[in-house]
Amino acid sequence: MTTTDTRHNDSTTKARTESLLTPRFYTTDMEAMDRLDMDPIRGEWEALMNEFRDDSNQNHFKRDEDFDKEVKKLSPELEQEFLDFLVSSATSEYSGHVLYADIKKAVKNEDVREVMGYMARDESRHAGFINQTLNDFGVPVNLGFLRKAKKYKYFKPKYIMYSVYLSEKIGYARYITIYRHLERNPEFRFHPMFRWFEQWCNDEFRHGEVFALMMKANPHLLRGLNVYWIRFFLLAVYATMYVRDHTRPELHQALGFDPTEYDMKVLKLTSEISKQIFPITLDLDNPKFKANLDRLARINIATVEAKRRGGLVGLVKRAGLGIAAVAVFTRLYALPVEHHKTPENVRLAPTW
Ligand SMILES: [Fe+2]
Ligand SMILES: [Fe+2]
Repeated sequence: MTTTDTRHNDSTTKARTESLLTPRFYTTDMEAMDRLDMDPIRGEWEALMNEFRDDSNQNHFKRDEDFDKEVKKLSPELEQEFLDFLVSSATSEYSGHVLYADIKKAVKNEDVREVMGYMARDESRHAGFINQTLNDFGVPVNLGFLRKAKKYKYFKPKYIMYSVYLSEKIGYARYITIYRHLERNPEFRFHPMFRWFEQWCNDEFRHGEVFALMMKANPHLLRGLNVYWIRFFLLAVYATMYVRDHTRPELHQALGFDPTEYDMKVLKLTSEISKQIFPITLDLDNPKFKANLDRLARINIATVEAKRRGGLVGLVKRAGLGIAAVAVFTRLYALPVEHHKTPENVRLAPTW
């Protein structure tokens, strides 16, 4: 086996690895998706569909002639973290593609079929573009294999809506924050791929809007006990990003970012957007919020260490760290949240 083959396998293996932090593959209740009715928000829905139909990014995910010239040699540590970042990004883009394509295949509802087709199209372009860069490093993820080999997690449609809505919006916020930063500080653009992020993030923003409209058409999803679920997903999505980004110090240094500052900026932007639909946001300015996220990040790094160590001691350590992580997460969940009056819940005030 050649070195390239070994690394190729490493990349696919990494993408297959199941942990709380790695991007997952999802499936849902297709009959419920088939019953979604967009009529209550028909005007907004059609306007959004027209954007998808225009397909303004049709030719965007192609390399230009400067691309190869801008590729630089990276230090081994940076290369490793950059590849981790790319594998995780390609996997989550592809996971979106698979979910949307599967829903499209399973339903007859014309609105749902149409939009899932557009989003599957976009995500496959995104995954393909990242995979091209992985290919340059000799480590593409075998996406077709991943589709068969990855375990699928079943999520009720409402959990899909909360979590995928947030993933799309946080994806938008991440891409645009990196793009704007590198626009101001081009000396940190260590790879040409980042030049694609501006138009790319518009796709993610639109994808988020799809789920926002689905929730708006079903306003019961935004009130009552469901608000506890919204709170849970806000925290789960935010914490996952924070913890994962804090495992990549070299990557952030190369981009000229402090990961904490970058993450807080991304979370603030995501909250600004999500309060247009969610009746609550997490209080990001509460010092306890950041302190507990930092605790989670430290627990995660210690867990990776214990895993590497292996054996009985490693196992016991990991079990202890798992309990500590749940305790910190619970503490974060219990922090006070901010309530908002969105156009929908003015009428449908949360019942708690
Ligand atoms: Fe995407
Ligand atoms: Fe997306």
